[in-house]
Amino acid sequence: MKEQLEKIRASAMEALALAREATDLEALRVKVLGKKGELTAVLKMMGKLSPEERPVMGQLANETRAAIEAELEHRRQEIAAAAMERKLAEEAVDVTIPGEEIAMGHKHPMNTALDEAKEIFIGMGFQILEGPEVELADYNFTKLNTEEGHPARDWSDTFYLKEDSSVLLRTQTSPMQIRAMEAIKEPPIRILAPGRVYRKDEVDATHSPMFHQIEGLVIDKGITMADLKGTLETLVKSLYGEDSVVRFRPHHFPFTEPSCEVDVQCFKCHGAGCPTCKGEGWIELLGAGMVHPKVLEGCGIDPEVYSGFAFGIGLERMAMRRFQISDLRLIFENDIRFLQQF
Ligand code: DAH
Repeated sequence: MKEQLEKIRASAMEALALAREATDLEALRVKVLGKKGELTAVLKMMGKLSPEERPVMGQLANETRAAIEAELEHRRQEIAAAAMERKLAEEAVDVTIPGEEIAMGHKHPMNTALDEAKEIFIGMGFQILEGPEVELADYNFTKLNTEEGHPARDWSDTFYLKEDSSVLLRTQTSPMQIRAMEAIKEPPIRILAPGRVYRKDEVDATHSPMFHQIEGLVIDKGITMADLKGTLETLVKSLYGEDSVVRFRPHHFPFTEPSCEVDVQCFKCHGAGCPTCKGEGWIELLGAGMVHPKVLEGCGIDPEVYSGFAFGIGLERMAMRRFQISDLRLIFENDIRFLQQF
């Protein structure tokens, strides 16, 4: 029995030394000291010993148990301490490591140009309005005095979404004029509505099937062409400098009467003609006009009481001029090397 106890003690000590986890210790405790453990089995045989042997072996057995228990506790503490140390090491923050540099983005040149335009108009009391890109043909055309049969309504010009041509991707931001009048109802109305528009254009240096416009609309009592001229001249001078020269050229749009196109004198050659203005001396900037009485009437506004003007600016053109970008496609390619320049 003595050898048995010594063997149990020796192998338990060896196993304890090798244990790495708290779970190893618990398994070992059960294996040796548990109800069906090795030491317990030996103790059960005590009864078979002679009365002289019993106290000697009993004491030896108790010493064995005490020694194993003490070592168990010792190892438990060691393992817990090691685990804590490991955790601390894993979670340690080295404040001396240099920070990781975060690549900061910046505004896309189109947004810079748009924000500049917004600033100017907000300064003049305009309210910014946004509306749907999927639009009713009714708003995109009919209510803008562009009846059935108008060439702009042709299937080859427009992205229709329904066989009956009632829904489309808006070809202009002008339907926002209708939406503004319907929403605000009572003039004065002074809104600016920027957004995407779509046309079936082939992609080249100056065309894209998707581009952006900024629509403006002002309706009030006594609004005249002079207000239109003053507003747009303010825009151009804010954008291109006080000394820039503006030209109003007669034009036709179905929803304005009279209509005009607005050009700015080429900032490169000051009217002499150069590659930037394609030799013309002027650069076309936007379309505008006095809101057609039929359009006002259609939105429940009495043209005998109120009048107004509207305009539509091509945002890409504005940005291209602002940043001297020669090819429209660059704006949409999102090549970092290009965008980083602005
Ligand atoms: N919607 C026109 C276009 O896409 C631009 C335009 C012209 C807008 C005259 C207007 C306007 O508001 O009055 O070509």
